[in-house]
Amino acid sequence: MNIKAVVFDAYGTLYDVQSVADITEDAFPGYGEIITQVWRIKQLEYTWLRSLMRRYEDFSEVTRDSLAYTLASLGLKYGDDTFARIIDKYLHLDLYPDALAALSAIKDRKLAILSNGSPDMLEGLVCNSGLDRVLDAVISVDARKTFKPSPEAYMLIEELLHVPPAEVLFISSNPWDVCGAKAFGLNVAWIERVTPEAMALACLESETLPPLTMFKILRTQMDELGVAPDHRIHGLAELPALVSAQRS
Ligand code: LAC
Repeated sequence: MNIKAVVFDAYGTLYDVQSVADITEDAFPGYGEIITQVWRIKQLEYTWLRSLMRRYEDFSEVTRDSLAYTLASLGLKYGDDTFARIIDKYLHLDLYPDALAALSAIKDRKLAILSNGSPDMLEGLVCNSGLDRVLDAVISVDARKTFKPSPEAYMLIEELLHVPPAEVLFISSNPWDVCGAKAFGLNVAWIERVTPEAMALACLESETLPPLTMFKILRTQMDELGVAPDHRIHGLAELPALVSAQRS
């Protein structure tokens, strides 16, 4: 493979979406974890539904709507301040600890994010976390008013970076995004942070109730959509070795 650009998904891949749990737990003791899990599932579902319905609203709207749905579905009452405090964390999500070092080590290729996030959300996140120092571009699907895994979203990479799909390595921890990128024609590495075996073991050992575990399981298993990633890694720390094995 002749890799000229490495392009990353943002939420769940570079940034830990579950890092909102401290704030949701503080706001709603005992519910912190279930809120983050239902919220993420509904957030993604709304992107796909809005794309199919051709009723695009940007990711900040989708993120607010899915949080409102989640809190209502759990019967939780809240004020505007609480809602705003939870949403604000989306601009300050924790960067995975291995992200900055991994990106700095592959700086000889073009580095970019391609995300469903709106331009404002991504700009805040990238500046607040210091990733603006290593990224060459931050690409939002908002330019096409649709969401990944639509092919139109992945097309933005070539349009903006001027690197053809065959010379792009796309990195995502999200199985649906891996399938979308692979179906489009990119080279794809899946970050499998938690294997199904490790998850099964954690379920056996945990006192967590099944509904809570179910959402996590859904996020860790590769989807059955007829395509498979070219590479599997378990964290961003493995990326420099994978990239240096490809010609630039
Ligand atoms: C992203 C999401 C939704 O595109 O993971 O960053």
